[in-house]
Amino acid sequence: MRVLTIIPTYNELESLPVTLGRLRAAVPDSDVLVVDDNSPDGTGKLADGFAAEDSQVHVLHRKGKEGLGAAYIAGFKWGLAAGYDVLVEMDADGSHKPEQLPLLLDAVSEGADLAMGSRWVPGGSVVNWPLYRQAISRIGSTYARIMLGVKIKDVTGGYRAFRRSTLEALNLDEVESVGYGFQVDLAWRVAKLGLRIEERPITFVERELGASKMSGNIVVEAMINVTKWGLAARWEKLTRKSPAVAK
Ligand code: GDD
Ligand code: MN
Repeated sequence: MRVLTIIPTYNELESLPVTLGRLRAAVPDSDVLVVDDNSPDGTGKLADGFAAEDSQVHVLHRKGKEGLGAAYIAGFKWGLAAGYDVLVEMDADGSHKPEQLPLLLDAVSEGADLAMGSRWVPGGSVVNWPLYRQAISRIGSTYARIMLGVKIKDVTGGYRAFRRSTLEALNLDEVESVGYGFQVDLAWRVAKLGLRIEERPITFVERELGASKMSGNIVVEAMINVTKWGLAARWEKLTRKSPAVAK
C-alpha cells in the first residue's frame, strides 16, 4: 500500500516541524504532502526546506486561504494523480497523533473503505479541551448522526484514511463545504455510497502552539448544512415512496 499523508497548513510555522518529524518517525513508509495556502508566516517556505532534504515530503502551494476543504480536495487530486493507494487527512497542529496512524492504516488493510479516528467511541478521548468544547463536539456529532442517519460517532473528526477507490467514487468537484462541514459532507457522501466506514479510537490533543482557524461561523454553517442535507434526504425518500410515484 502506497500511503500519502496530506497535511493542510495555514500559519503553522511552529507546529509543522514537530508534526512532520513525528510522522516521519512513526510511519516512515508514508509519503507526505503539505498543502499550504500561502501562509503569511512562511509555513510554505519552511515546508519547501523539508521537501528539499527528504524525497518523501512534497509541498503543494496554493495562492491564498481558501479553507480546509479546498486544500484537502486539491491534495486528494494530487495524490490520486500520483497513484497512491491510501490518502490520509491529518492536522498540522499535533492534534492527530502521528503515532496513532497505524490504527487507521490497519483498518484500511482489513477492508475499510474509510477509516476514521474517533474521539467519541470507547477508548477515544480529548486532551486539553474544556468541557464546553467537548459538549459542542459531541452534540454536533449526535445531531448530524440523527439528522443524516449515519452510524458514525465522530462525524466531524478530521483524522481519516481513505482507500483510493473511495475518493475515486466521489465527485470531488461537487464538494464545496468548509471547515467542520467539509468533514461531515465527505463522511456522508461515503456513507451514501454504502461503502465500509470504520471508526477507531484516537486521543485528540488540543494544539499547544499557534492558533485555531475554525470559527463560530464555521460551526453554525455546518449545523445549517446538516439540517438542509438531512431534510432534503428525508424529502427525497418520502416522495420516492409515495404511492403516486411507486406505480
Ligand atoms: N491549507 C489550509 N487552508 N489549511 C487550513 C486552512 C486553510 O484555509 N484552515 C485550517 N487549515 C489547517 C490548519 O493549519 C490545521 O493544520 C488544520 O487545517 C486544522 O485546523 P485547526 O484550526 O487546527 O482546526 P480545529 O482544531 O479547530 O479542527 C480540527 O478538528 C475538527 C473537529 O474534529 C480539524 O481536524 C477539523 O477538520 C475537524 O473537523
Ligand atoms: Mn487544531
